[in-house]
Amino acid sequence: MATVTAPLSVQDDLDAMLPYTFMALVGKRVIHPGGRPATAALYKLSDLQPGMHVLEVGCGVGTTAIEVVRRFDCHVTAVDIDPFMVERAEDNVKAAGLTGRVTVAQGDIQSLNYPDQQFDRVLVEAVLEFVDPMRAVKEVVRVCRSGGRVVDHEFVWRKAPTPEVRMLFEDKVCPPSRLLDWQDLYQSAGLSDVSLVSGIPSIMTPHGFLRDEGPINMVSVLAHVLRHAPYRRKMAHLYSDLRRVFPYLGWVVVGGLTP
Ligand SMILES: C[S@@+](CC[C@H](N)C(=O)[O-])C[C@H]1O[C@@H](n2cnc3c(N)ncnc32)[C@H](O)[C@@H]1O
Repeated sequence: MATVTAPLSVQDDLDAMLPYTFMALVGKRVIHPGGRPATAALYKLSDLQPGMHVLEVGCGVGTTAIEVVRRFDCHVTAVDIDPFMVERAEDNVKAAGLTGRVTVAQGDIQSLNYPDQQFDRVLVEAVLEFVDPMRAVKEVVRVCRSGGRVVDHEFVWRKAPTPEVRMLFEDKVCPPSRLLDWQDLYQSAGLSDVSLVSGIPSIMTPHGFLRDEGPINMVSVLAHVLRHAPYRRKMAHLYSDLRRVFPYLGWVVVGGLTP
């Protein structure tokens, strides 16, 4: 993976920076609630086969896109709305020697720039909570071929949050997050044979961090944070907010067949 340095435009307003952008900035590679166990469930529900053309939307720094090519010998188109993420993903694809196997592009999950039924599989990890979910679900179903699979991994409330916790999560930690019944949403968009896997987030625990990043990248991320006082402050605030909301949160992976 490429070394991450902060472009000035991204450093400008660390306070306002979304947590996932900050995590990418400091070099974290896995930036979704369920970490690697959720991605393993996503692969299982996707039934990926060699030669398939896979779309990953909201690809972040490209970690899953790269792994899909390496593990399943697929071709991947990886899309993200944020130019910073697109740049990181492109750097990481290049560093992995997979230019030509992963195509990275800027795009919006709510209005994808691809024809109907273009892809065999569509994968999404931790994106729907930030967008108009019905528009996004219609789009990912539209671009997937009939009989293909759409699989998505998102946060859920696993117990009813107090009003303070809900406000903290939706409007401060991860704005503008809105958590829905994702299974219901995909069923109403026409997916059949819908399966669901669920778990408890562990990305911010020491064990989850180590499992997701591996020892070398974990040390690199921590060193990156510790070297910069503004990063230390941002991480401390983020960690303290997340500790308050995580007891209420779970994750799900939802997947099914397109009509
Ligand atoms: C929580 S991060 C997840 C990144 C990556 N999927 C992962 O799991 O590591 C959310 C990602 O969704 C992207 N995103 C947010 N809104 C989007 C949209 N409308 N269309 C496409 N991507 C979007 C963000 O830029 C960010 O990279």
